[in-house]
Amino acid sequence: MRSALQGKTAIITGASSGIGKATALLMAREKMNLVLAARRAGELNEVRRETEARGSRVLACPADVTDAEQVQALVEKAVSLFGRVDIVVCSAGQLLRRPAVDLTIGDFRHIMEVNFYGSLNLIYAALPGMLERRSGHIIVVSSVDGKKGLPPDTAYVASKCAVNGFMDVLRQELRGTGVHACTILPGRVDTPMVKGIRFPLGSRGIPGDRVARSIVRAIRKRRTEVVVPYIGPKTLIVANSFSPRLGDWLVRLFKLEGVEEGSDMSHNDIGV
Ligand SMILES: NC(=O)c1ccc[n+]([C@@H]2O[C@H](COP(=O)([O-])OP(=O)(O)OC[C@H]3O[C@@H](n4cnc5c(N)ncnc54)[C@H](OP(=O)(O)O)[C@@H]3O)[C@@H](O)[C@H]2O)c1
Repeated sequence: MRSALQGKTAIITGASSGIGKATALLMAREKMNLVLAARRAGELNEVRRETEARGSRVLACPADVTDAEQVQALVEKAVSLFGRVDIVVCSAGQLLRRPAVDLTIGDFRHIMEVNFYGSLNLIYAALPGMLERRSGHIIVVSSVDGKKGLPPDTAYVASKCAVNGFMDVLRQELRGTGVHACTILPGRVDTPMVKGIRFPLGSRGIPGDRVARSIVRAIRKRRTEVVVPYIGPKTLIVANSFSPRLGDWLVRLFKLEGVEEGSDMSHNDIGV
């Protein structure tokens, strides 16, 4: 039976690795047209081969999401090859794990450029066409960290809070336009981004393809916000909204921030 997504066109940033790559592979099974973007051409071409082998028509476009012109060109190429852009998945992102006192304003600007403005660059390039056709899906892979921050990630958390706030309002403003906006809030995901960080047993990473499945389901069901995995992160978000002190305590109790490999997990500098 033909899937509702078959033949639709999606642009995926961060497609060379982790969640973006897993999403590309899953969408290829649906025989979607894919435009894959990330900076590393070699990795991107490998994903192109794998997705083509699954039956998709694929364009691999090395691009830096911080460069608005390169991102605009992605949309133009997608339209000239496939006719339209139905879905954008903004998954490109970087983690900067360093305490606030050791960060410069430049560090914050860099992370905001990638994680916040990088998503906006794609959304603003694709949105006019979607609004004109009164149809489309905007998916941003944000993070649970944008609902409850963990040390030592101030810059990363600030960028995810920014993107969550943007999406929260955009979704409401797009109501009735035929364009849907959904924020994906992963907890811990086992990808190269968190390689070298050990997390406690209850906070071990889920595979990237589990997030990919949530993304595809969110498109099909027009979800607004998806927390994945659900129970642990959702409990933390609810506890924190009730009392930030309780949220902080849970972070310390379960050592949710993890430790760099080689450090002693039984020791917590902050102390529960
Ligand atoms: N892993 C987790 O635990 C976790 C949890 C919550 C949320 N997330 C979010 O999930 C998203 C995907 O992360 P991931 O876990 O899949 O990490 P990942 O495996 O490190 O993938 C990050 C992707 O972003 C791309 N990228 C980074 N900077 C870029 C830039 N300036 N321009 C274009 N592409 C860029 C990378 O490709 P190139 O290096 O080739 O450019 C790569 O494809 C991120 O937004 C991250 O914040 C991850």
